[in-house]
Parts: sequence; C-alpha cells; structure tokens
Amino acid sequence: MLTHAITADPVLEFVSDVRAGLTLRGQKELPSKYLYDDVGSALFEVISVLPQYGLTRADERLLRRHASEIADNVPKHVAVAELGSGSGKKTRWILKALCRRQHISYFPIEISPTALAMCERELGDIESMSIVGFEREYLDGLIEVVARRHDGQSILVLFLGSTIGNFDRPAAAKFLREVRNILQPGDSLLLGTDFEKPIPQLIAAYDDPLGVTAAFNLNLLARINRELDADFVLEQFEHVAKFNPDARSIEMHLRSRIDQNATIPRAGLSVSFREGETIWTESSHKYGWTEPLRIAKDAGFVCKAQWIDQEWAFAENLFIAE
Ligand code: TRP
Repeated sequence: MLTHAITADPVLEFVSDVRAGLTLRGQKELPSKYLYDDVGSALFEVISVLPQYGLTRADERLLRRHASEIADNVPKHVAVAELGSGSGKKTRWILKALCRRQHISYFPIEISPTALAMCERELGDIESMSIVGFEREYLDGLIEVVARRHDGQSILVLFLGSTIGNFDRPAAAKFLREVRNILQPGDSLLLGTDFEKPIPQLIAAYDDPLGVTAAFNLNLLARINRELDADFVLEQFEHVAKFNPDARSIEMHLRSRIDQNATIPRAGLSVSFREGETIWTESSHKYGWTEPLRIAKDAGFVCKAQWIDQEWAFAENLFIAE
C-alpha cells in the first residue's frame, strides 16, 4: 500500500511510538526518526564534521565533483524531490548544475520543521529554482510531489547520506520498491550508499572520542524528558555502538548502567531497566560493492552511473525507473 495514515497530532504519535517501543518484551527500542529534534539535528551537523565520521564529507565531495555529470544524466525538464533534506547544504551543487540548463522545482521532504526552514534559507538564493518544502514522511511527501508533476516533466528523487542503510535489508528493498511504484518509467533516483569498512573504523565513526555521537543518542531520552515530562537520568545511561556481523550493520543502543525505573507521565508509563539492558535506537547497514545495484534492480530500477569516493568507501548511484 502506498498511502500512509498521517497522524494529526505529532505528540500523540510520539507517545504511542515511545509506549510501543519501551513495552516490548524482548529488546526495547525507540524509532530513530525521533533523534532529530532541534538539539539532535544540531548535534548531527557536528557529527558530520567529525574526523571519524567520513560519510557526510564523502557524500558532499561526490556531489560537488560530479554535479554536472549527474545533471547530464537526468532529463532536462525535471522536478527534484529530496527525501530527508536536512539543512540542504550538500544538495546545492547538484541543484545549481540542474538549474544551469533549465528552471527547476525543488521539493525537500522533511519531518523536522527546523531542518526544512534551514534548507529553505540555505538554498533560497539559487537562481531559477523554486522551493516548496513538505513537512511529511518520505513516501507521503513523494506522493504529493508526483501529484504536482507537469506534462512531460520527469522526477529526480534524491536519497542522500546513507539513510537507506538505516533500514534493515528487507525494509530497504521494500522501501525502494515503494519509491519505484510512486514513480514512472524514466524517472531517476540518486541514492547514497555507504560500503563495508574495517570494524574499528566503523566503531570510531559511530562512537567518537569527543562524545558527540553519545550526546546525539542520549538526546533521545532528554527529548522524552522535555516533551513527555519523563524522568530519565541521563547519567545512568550510556551510548553503545556495536557491529552486528549477521546484519552487517552498526547498531546504536542506550545501555542502562544500573537497575532502574523511569516514568513517562504523558505516556502513562513506568518502565524498568536491568543493569546492562539496552534500548536499540538505530542501525546503519553497510553494503557490499555490488549490493546497491542488486537491490535497485530488484526494485525495478536500472543503474545509469555510479560514483565512488576514493577516501571513504561511499557511492552515489544514479538509477532510472524501468
Ligand atoms: N544516518 C546516519 C548514519 O547511520 C545517522 C547517524 C550517525 C546516527 N551517527 C549516529 C544515528 C549515531 C544514531 C546514532 O550514518
């Protein structure tokens, strides 16, 4: 099914997701999308400039260096939909390259209103481009964008960073199929993928010595305190990044340092944690060299081109809907 119910009240949705995740019998979990409130989004901007986290810089390098080549490989009359634009900084190069040929419409799709506002400010100066932001989940936003398609216009979807890696493998395959089903043959998808690397390098990228990533992860509990009046004692939890060899992913957890309880009044909930018990907050799956091409093919895309960074194993893949 392509359509998703849009929950009218984001607080109610947050409450119900927190309740569902923290009352699971086995591994407790919280959805990673809640990491990105104002504080979390600002901390992620810092993560992206840390020496240990090469991913965002690789993404930016590729987009900057190959912007005109990428533009040359998509139809001229194009509307750009970006899934999870963030601040929009790294998208500038490709948008400028596209605008050199023809006026374009850019539709950033973001669940964070702050990120969306930043993106509109950051990219608002690009000539011959109009921006209309959608504060929506990815697929809901994309459905709205294609509904605005003009005659003869093709769609370019940007899914940058390595957000696809935050889905487990079956979910990533399903997501790409859903994207494909919303699109028409000839539309394009530019997908960022992060490749497998030595485990110590991955651990360092997700558990930096300054503790920025730890703060980013712990902010999720701080956010539940702020927004749902909870009483998590942050000092009693620690950030853990570990490699899961079966899933080939880095898993992020918040580990309880002691036996403890937390109450979340606005969710009508009291949760107990054993010493060492964790809340799983995010996984970042890493791909084998040919994997992006395979999952794209399975979803109904062909690969038109791929650009790989020399410093940090990361690729920009340009796929065309069949
Ligand atoms: N999408 C990013 C990634 O997986 C997000 C990220 C970076 C992240 N560091 C993190 C998520 C630490 C949770 C915890 O690379």
